[in-house]
Amino acid sequence: MSTGFKGRSVCHIADLSVEEMTRVLDVAEGFAQDLKAQKPPSRLALGRVLATLFFEPSTRTRLSFESAMSRLGGSVVSVAQPGQTSVAKGETLADTIRMVAAYSDAIVLRHPQEGAARLAARYSKVPIINAGDGAGQHPTQTLLDLYTIRKEKGNLSDVKVALVGDLKYGRTVHSLAHALARLGTEMALVAPEGLQMPADARAGLHDLGARYSTAERLDDVIGDIDVLYMTRIQKERFPDLEEYRRVQNVYQVSNALLARAKKGVIVLHPLPRVGEILPEVDDTPNAKYFDQAANGVPVRMALLALILGLVE
Ligand code: NCD
Repeated sequence: MSTGFKGRSVCHIADLSVEEMTRVLDVAEGFAQDLKAQKPPSRLALGRVLATLFFEPSTRTRLSFESAMSRLGGSVVSVAQPGQTSVAKGETLADTIRMVAAYSDAIVLRHPQEGAARLAARYSKVPIINAGDGAGQHPTQTLLDLYTIRKEKGNLSDVKVALVGDLKYGRTVHSLAHALARLGTEMALVAPEGLQMPADARAGLHDLGARYSTAERLDDVIGDIDVLYMTRIQKERFPDLEEYRRVQNVYQVSNALLARAKKGVIVLHPLPRVGEILPEVDDTPNAKYFDQAANGVPVRMALLALILGLVE
């Protein structure tokens, strides 16, 4: 099967069909096996250059992309401090992208503005991978979330997933809900008043025929789910810090809460966590958020290899 990934940008999770998402997960599984077996380093991407351009803080996303490219045998040029580039002199994103595209074979972009990746793709002659555009999308996080659910639960459609926390500003849940809707996965959207999934995103889910319920209390869904996907309240996106303080510690996963959950429930979080999951949970078999973060490497290797045309 020719997947036709080569040269494509991924700005929104909708840019990938269900078949294409599945293809990424399958390729990732192969890379994960190679990594586990400590196979000699791959030379698939030898001579290729990935640019990572981060206009917002990041630990996992940038490092796992850079690790992924290195493990494919390619190399990386990186801007993690845009204040030290010509952006500080007033250069537009379009001009920055035109230049970076001349220096690389693909660009991973994180930017505070919603729609930035889509805009960048218009000016880039190489693929753009959206690593987060404001409160918009984070499609590669979704791929590793799906990979983790499939690996831990054995499938993606016959599970019930609770998306919990900041569903208004959280870009990881915007992408994940869209993907789960298309996969036919049942969802519970749990958010405090004011942080529910925005109306346009909900309308989008509705159009996709999504199966979901909404709740304000985690207690109302905890006994009924297979995957508990926690998120951080996105402090940096609140126009009013008082509003943030009101909802700051609204949900907290503890061992006492998990005692009321199904036995095999898995707890995921895109990280960083700032109090949503107590450290005591880390030692339970339910805690999968660090494995989830580790899965970022094989999943991003797969996406890069497909987009660079290194695997079919
Ligand atoms: C997330 C992000 O940047 O959207 N982090 C990540 O990429 N793992 C989640 C967050 O910042 O809360």
